[in-house]
Amino acid sequence: MMPVPPPRPGGAFGQVRPMRTRIDEIAAGLYRLSTFVPEVAAPAGFTFNQFLVAGAEPLLFHTGLRRMFPAVREAVARIVPPERLRWIAFGHYEADECGAMNEWLAIAPRAEVAHGTIACLVTLNDVADRAPRILADGEVLDIGGRRLRYLDTPHVPHGWDAGVMFEETTGTLLCGDLFTHAGDGPALTRDDILGPSIAAEDLFGYSSLSPGMGRTIRRLAALAPRTLATMHGSSFAGDGAAALEGLAAEYDRRLRAATP
Ligand SMILES: [Fe+2]
Ligand SMILES: [Fe+2]
Repeated sequence: MMPVPPPRPGGAFGQVRPMRTRIDEIAAGLYRLSTFVPEVAAPAGFTFNQFLVAGAEPLLFHTGLRRMFPAVREAVARIVPPERLRWIAFGHYEADECGAMNEWLAIAPRAEVAHGTIACLVTLNDVADRAPRILADGEVLDIGGRRLRYLDTPHVPHGWDAGVMFEETTGTLLCGDLFTHAGDGPALTRDDILGPSIAAEDLFGYSSLSPGMGRTIRRLAALAPRTLATMHGSSFAGDGAAALEGLAAEYDRRLRAATP
């Protein structure tokens, strides 16, 4: 998701200036590439994070905005040759999730976009420059020594086509926009991220509050992730199940409050 700053000449994304992307290994062989944009969600600012899963067939989860491509490509190149990228995955079809998808397909000749059925049939079959690989709900993508399980999360936190990936070796949930929070905190924290993400929900209203939301998030809690790799904000190390249960309870509470 992309909180849109006030319009200015050059368009809403025109404020994304040349920038540097920092790299942190948040789990073994799993790298967080983070670009901080102070103008978005000012005064706290906002991070746009991609996750590179190293392996025989490297996978990038989120491409970043199209305008961020030079910075993200340069960051990936510090870890693996960008042309070796094999898989491109992301939470749902939005500019910050996949705006640079075709730029990556152009420089990485073996790269394929991998996503759920809805994303592929509704959008990616048309907009991706090469045909995407459709992943069934629960299907495991083996990237050469590492397994990533794809899970449909329709409308959670937003987007009919939404989905997440669970990297089984390190127990890392690539949870996309779930737990979105503002600011440029540490790459990985053991502190609470639920409170800041509730504050961000109040600020942006980015979630599609729906009856299935709690159930969908509790299904992710059952994976008992040890790390939550968040797209916007610090990643979390600790009891991921408890954090996800807390998030599900919060959305259940919001749904009750919104329902007459
Ligand atoms: Fe989003
Ligand atoms: Fe996002």
